[in-house]
Amino acid sequence: MCGVFGYVGARDPLQVCLTGLSALEYRGYDSTGIAGISQGKISFCKKAGKLSELKKVLSFPPLELAIAHTRWATHGKVNDQNAHPHFDASHSIAVIHNGIIENFSALREELLREKALLASETDTEIVAHLIAKYYKGDLVRALHSAMQRLKGAFSLLVIHKDHPGELVATARDCPLSVALDAVRTEGIVSSDPNVFFGTNFDVIFLKASEIACVRKGSVDVVDSELRKITKKSERIAGSFTVPSKEGFEHYMLKEIYEQPITIQKAFLGRYARGVSFEELSLQDAVFRNTSKICIIGCGTSSHAGSIGALFLEEFAGVFTSCEIASEARYRPLLLSPDTLVIAISQSGETADTLAALHEAKKRGCTTLGLCNVKNSALVREADGALLLQAGPEMSVCSTKAFTSQLTTLFLFSLFMGQIKKTLTQERLLLLQEELKTIPAQIEQVINRAPEIQRLAKKYARHENFFFMGRRYMFPTCLEAALKLKEISYVNANGYPAGELKHGPIALLDAHFPVIAFCANRQTEEKILSNVMEVKARGAPVLAIASDHFKQIQKAADDVFYIPDSSDSLAPFASTVVGQLFAYYIAKERGCEIDQPRNLAKSVTVE
Ligand code: AGP
Repeated sequence: MCGVFGYVGARDPLQVCLTGLSALEYRGYDSTGIAGISQGKISFCKKAGKLSELKKVLSFPPLELAIAHTRWATHGKVNDQNAHPHFDASHSIAVIHNGIIENFSALREELLREKALLASETDTEIVAHLIAKYYKGDLVRALHSAMQRLKGAFSLLVIHKDHPGELVATARDCPLSVALDAVRTEGIVSSDPNVFFGTNFDVIFLKASEIACVRKGSVDVVDSELRKITKKSERIAGSFTVPSKEGFEHYMLKEIYEQPITIQKAFLGRYARGVSFEELSLQDAVFRNTSKICIIGCGTSSHAGSIGALFLEEFAGVFTSCEIASEARYRPLLLSPDTLVIAISQSGETADTLAALHEAKKRGCTTLGLCNVKNSALVREADGALLLQAGPEMSVCSTKAFTSQLTTLFLFSLFMGQIKKTLTQERLLLLQEELKTIPAQIEQVINRAPEIQRLAKKYARHENFFFMGRRYMFPTCLEAALKLKEISYVNANGYPAGELKHGPIALLDAHFPVIAFCANRQTEEKILSNVMEVKARGAPVLAIASDHFKQIQKAADDVFYIPDSSDSLAPFASTVVGQLFAYYIAKERGCEIDQPRNLAKSVTVE
């Protein structure tokens, strides 16, 4: 999940790399570092903590080129020594890295037996020493030889003091792209194909252990057998600008407030008298012949997928399951050739989701990606893709991407209903009309943020929470619990409300509040009983309920009412309440909201 960036060209490499780091910091913020070549020597600066910490100690001579890294720790503690770049013994070679070298322990022992002096606990440093071992004047060959020894999925960017004009990059099952500007005066390497700064770039994506030697305005690529290859490039506008909070205290709050607009962006132009997706390259026949759907994703995206599975069952009558991507890939019967696999990912770079997608493709499934980032690996590799159009999501805690995923899944299930003829035209139009009311419903919830803040203040001192819900409210409560865990560092477990009495209710007492998601008409009486059950154990209850469901008031300690809607659309407003509740609890507890500890926005290791 680290961010890898490198620059060679006419501009100041240090300044370009600093901009690169600020744009890639979402990939990890345990430490940052830069190395560059100046007058035949490697200079570097690295520091534990966020980029702001590095900037305090930054000092470089004028550089001929530079590489830069932002780390999410896998091997070795978060400290200055383990920060990238890493070096060989003679400080001739500097390496930065994303991913995991799986046979690192054996290689480390081998190097230690050979009396190598290792300065860090990382797997990356091993690579620098291996390259040095094989180096005989040709950096590409040396990296190629080192690659033969490495197992795992990773990308590497390497420089050598005697090659002051070359960035040497490679990637195996891990994103890494190389860009040349249109007038060929510079070369950039980046983990994120959307992070290039300038006007237009011709971008190539490295894969399958290909090695690129990038110079000012040119790139030579060899395949895993060291054969020279020509790769097709894509023209990408390099107009990346670092987003702003636009006056909000945190990106998370800004992104919560954007949802009435982002939801509209996800549905506008996609329906009239029926649903259609302009960008969908797959033929209707594929969907007509689909007999089973498997949705895969991780974290928030998997929660959206669980709600999507309920949409698809309700509107298209197709058996649909939603599976955690890291598990799905190991289940042979789940991914059979008659299955449509829908992979959901905000970033489109999540390693587990991509690994499951590859597995699904190997097993002959048709794959559809739902993604917020247009040049991402998911969009490039799935058979078809639907874009969320939510705009960049900066907060590690996902909010607007989730509601855009729900909107897209809702429309896709109507689309499937049309194709499968499980929806009458009348019902289809009613559902479309109701979807149109969702942005206004969310606006109403947001306008009542101060009420949610008051409730958050009341509950903020608790260390343990249960979130419960039934049907559409079960995955909704899982998502709300994840928000709370992620940014407030309190224990929050989501449960199907009917399951509490099968064990977890034993935990409840006056110090263990329950947040009951009640906005599902079909199960109102049942959730009312569940609320009574937890009240009988002395647990405080905050209910989030539809406007009409006044009976809940007698059972719960606090109720936040949301606008009435049909069950399938209730996850939207309920989710926004959960997002604001988590936000205000985190604020109350003084937590760092946009970049919570131990996390990264894009999880590119399995
Ligand atoms: C959500 O708040 C999380 N930060 C996390 O669970 C995230 O949804 C997950 O890592 C998947 O990311 P993706 O959507 O980019 O694949």
